[in-house]
Amino acid sequence: MFITVTRSYDEMSQRAALLVAAHVIVKPDTVLGLPTGSTPLGMYRELVRMRRETNLGFSRVATFNLDEYVGLPPDDPQSYDFFMRTNFTDHVNLRRDRVFIPDGRARDLAAECRRYEKLIERRGPIDLFVLGIGQNGHIGFNEPSHALQAETHVETLSARTRRANARFFGSVSKVPRRAITMGMGTIMKAREIILLAGSKEKAEAIKRAVKGPVTPAVPASVLQLHPACRMFIDSSAASGLG
Ligand code: PGA
Repeated sequence: MFITVTRSYDEMSQRAALLVAAHVIVKPDTVLGLPTGSTPLGMYRELVRMRRETNLGFSRVATFNLDEYVGLPPDDPQSYDFFMRTNFTDHVNLRRDRVFIPDGRARDLAAECRRYEKLIERRGPIDLFVLGIGQNGHIGFNEPSHALQAETHVETLSARTRRANARFFGSVSKVPRRAITMGMGTIMKAREIILLAGSKEKAEAIKRAVKGPVTPAVPASVLQLHPACRMFIDSSAASGLG
C-alpha cells in the first residue's frame, strides 16, 4: 500500500482527479470504478473543470459504480444514480450507455447482483478504482463482519453506517436498510486502486486499514493485499498513522 498524505482536502481531490485524467488520456477506453459520498465530491468537481477547460474526453470511458441503495428510484435525490448524474456524468461527455450503476429497484435483487457482476466481468477489468472508506472501515457497503462476500451482493447496512448517512436523509429512520454493493473480490480485481479520505472522522478507520491485521472486521484492510493500491489522504485522516 502506497500512502500520499496531502496538505488539504483540495489537494487530495486534485491529485485524485489528475490520476483519473492521466488514465483517460493514456487509455481513452479506460474502465473506471467510482464511489459516491462526500469525499469524492472535490474530485468530481475538478474533473468537470478539466473537461470544461482542457476538453478532457470521456467519450470512450466506461464507469461502474460501487453500490446503490435498495428501494430508491433513480430520480430520488438520495439515490447514487442521482448523485452521479448531478455531480459528474451529466457534466462530462460520458455516454449514458457506458455508465453502470446497480439497479436498487430490481424486483429480483439476487438476479440484479449476478447481472452486475457479469457486466463487470464482460466490460472489465476495471483499470482504476476510486474508493472512499466508511468510519467503520467499510468499502462500498461491505460492512465489518466475520466474513466478506467476494461478489456483488445485497448487504444489510450497519447501525453505524445508517447513522453516518442520516445527514443526507434528514433522519436515520429514512436511511434505507439495504444496499447492493460490489464485493471485495470484485473490487480487488481492479488493476489499480486509489482510496480517498479527507477528514479526521476517518483517521481511526485509516489506521486500522493500514496498520491493523487483514480482517473482515475492517473490510478496507483487505486492500493491503492489492499490488497497486494507493491512498490519497489529507493530514487529518492520516493523523492516526504516527
Ligand atoms: P463519505 O462516505 O465519503 O460520505 O464519508 C464514504 C463511505 O461511507 O464509504
